[in-house]
Amino acid sequence: MFATVACSSSEEPGEGTKKVEVFTWWADGGEKAGLDGLVGVFKTDCADYEFLNGAVAGGAGSNAKQVLASRLQQNDPPDTFQAHAGAELSDYINDDQLEDLSAQYTEWGLTNAFPKGLIDNLTVGGKIYSVPANIHRANVLWSNKTVLAKAGITKDATTIDGFFADLDKLKAAGVAAPLALGKDWTQQMLFEALLISKLGPEKFNGLWNGSTPWTGAEMTAAINDYKRLLTYTNKDRDTFDWTDAEKLLMDGKAAYQLMGDWEAADLDAKGFKDYGWSVFPGNGNVFQWLADSFVLPKGAKNADGTKCWLKTVGSATGQAAFNQKKGSIPARTDVGTDGFPAYQQAAMADWKTATQVPSCPHGSACAQTWQGAVGSAQGKFSSDGDVAALQTALASAAAEFGPKK
Ligand code: BGC
Repeated sequence: MFATVACSSSEEPGEGTKKVEVFTWWADGGEKAGLDGLVGVFKTDCADYEFLNGAVAGGAGSNAKQVLASRLQQNDPPDTFQAHAGAELSDYINDDQLEDLSAQYTEWGLTNAFPKGLIDNLTVGGKIYSVPANIHRANVLWSNKTVLAKAGITKDATTIDGFFADLDKLKAAGVAAPLALGKDWTQQMLFEALLISKLGPEKFNGLWNGSTPWTGAEMTAAINDYKRLLTYTNKDRDTFDWTDAEKLLMDGKAAYQLMGDWEAADLDAKGFKDYGWSVFPGNGNVFQWLADSFVLPKGAKNADGTKCWLKTVGSATGQAAFNQKKGSIPARTDVGTDGFPAYQQAAMADWKTATQVPSCPHGSACAQTWQGAVGSAQGKFSSDGDVAALQTALASAAAEFGPKK
């Protein structure tokens, strides 16, 4: 094959284009570093094609998903886009927006490269529609070591009560808002981490598969604890993306932040070394997982180029280059730990033994409609603190968007 020089001066892809427009929300910091790692492998393995960056900034795809929805509606899909494994991906499949990649799985030897449970999350009606790039962990508590040391905290809390005690110590030491928090989806993450502690993994899973009611007394108690947790957070949370909350941690204005492990990559990319991590207090050996995957949308202008991108995403070399910089771990089971930062090495070990639960704000547990309803209920709670109203809204959201009995 001959390497191809871009054949058009236009940035817009079109018929016969060599460009592959890759649509993500990985625009900055550790996310961009991860994407750059993958693009480096694509440049070598797919020299006939050219990467076109279609990233739309905004944590967890808060802006990207809206832009994508309108492009899909107008029949103007990017060549490939990022979609979470699980319920979120099923939305696109059920709307008939994606091509079946079963033949590519066979051709590229992917069928046995990924864990069976993950393959099940990418499959609908016996067909498989996307290639996973990684496994992220959502339930991680990041900390500023110096701030903790100044307050005399030397050990990670392993229970919610222990965590409240540490937050009180930090307040007494003059840290007014020790738990950094952002807006909507970041609040959903904090609430879910707390629910895992309060309900345990089995009942937490049941919230999404319909076997645990949202109406019980345990849920009321959890919402009350969540209300208490909010009293330790920054008041301007509803205007913050996750990186703004992360900055509070880096600046020593906060001691903790609950966030997915893209934070490890982002802190590394920003050169901040004084951080620690632990599983959220009370979560025990639970790994709240989510996975980014890439698809071939129906009507993509450069299907062949996209296939080359997908092959790179699924390759052992691509997964190593990407995940070493992204904070996540390879979805493939045959990539070694060499070259991975300490955090990911620990996550790779945990992944093998932990109990797995999914995440709603990151698509593995719920569809986007359900996530939206939970998000607005929590947004309202962030300003009014009305426990009964939040529980009613969560129960209605589950009745409307959850599995039908
Ligand atoms: C994605 C991650 C991303 C994070 C923050 C998650 O939904 O799966 O890849 O780093 O959002 O933007």
